[in-house]
Amino acid sequence: MSTEQQHREARLTERVVASFDATPDPRLREVMRSLTRHLHDFVREVRLTEREWQQAIAFLTEAGHVTDERRQEFILLSDVLGASMQTVTVNNEAYGDATEATVFGPFFTDGSPAIPLGGDIAGGAAGEPCWVSGTVTDTAGNPVAGARIEVWEADDDGFYDVQYGDDRVAARGHLVTDAAGGFRFWAITPTPYPIPHDGPVGRLLAATGRSPMRASHLHFLVTAPGLRTLVTHIFVRGDALLDSDSVFGVRDSLVKDFARRPPDRPTPDGRDLGGRPWSQVRFDIVLAPANPAAPANP
Ligand code: BEZ
Ligand code: FE
Repeated sequence: MSTEQQHREARLTERVVASFDATPDPRLREVMRSLTRHLHDFVREVRLTEREWQQAIAFLTEAGHVTDERRQEFILLSDVLGASMQTVTVNNEAYGDATEATVFGPFFTDGSPAIPLGGDIAGGAAGEPCWVSGTVTDTAGNPVAGARIEVWEADDDGFYDVQYGDDRVAARGHLVTDAAGGFRFWAITPTPYPIPHDGPVGRLLAATGRSPMRASHLHFLVTAPGLRTLVTHIFVRGDALLDSDSVFGVRDSLVKDFARRPPDRPTPDGRDLGGRPWSQVRFDIVLAPANPAAPANP
């Protein structure tokens, strides 16, 4: 490329960057300047054709058209590009042995049913029963009594209750830790499911030879006063999808042993499961301080 061409391209970038110089909000100024530089670098690096630019605009337009209050194609796009997970990573800085965070996903709902300790979140959702237990502590090892734990998951067919198309509430609930920070409940053994892939994001995955499947997981949202809110999942050790999760949500520390139990093995709480096999997992949750004075992992 000629020196004159290089100068033209570089001068254009600098003019656009400078157009944000007078932005009153310093953070908006920083974000827009940096976005401009990265976007122009991308266009120049791949030598984007005008046809490709039109295709990109058509893709985003279609993403807008399929987005409504139930379907958010832009979040899905952010998810499959790893941008959601990178934002989670940047905003949940490593702190001692605090449990790692992962993506929130689109299937959390407010107002989940209260589940007593030892209760069942399945609410009629199909799936193999799974006993989940553990503790919530802070990074000094102190039990956190009264922590609120929201849990939600897909059923055996890979659907969340909000995808059933009726008003059923299933496979979700919230519970509160006991005086020792302990919790226990019945859920269903997580199974893999695809993210919604009947829109432009699904076509992008297909065109790039990527699978829409998520590794099997159970979602957690844990809150307690003075401690950092944790949004995470636990994953099933041995799941074939751990290395190819479509939204890059898997962290090694979140992969847990879901021990398979035969029907004749007595359950931890003596519940009669009617001759069905079940599984059992332990998840000990460690919450970072909400406002640490200094980083714990310099
Ligand atoms: C989920 O785990 O529920 C999820 C996360 C990202 C995109 C779609 C679904
Ligand atoms: Fe999920």
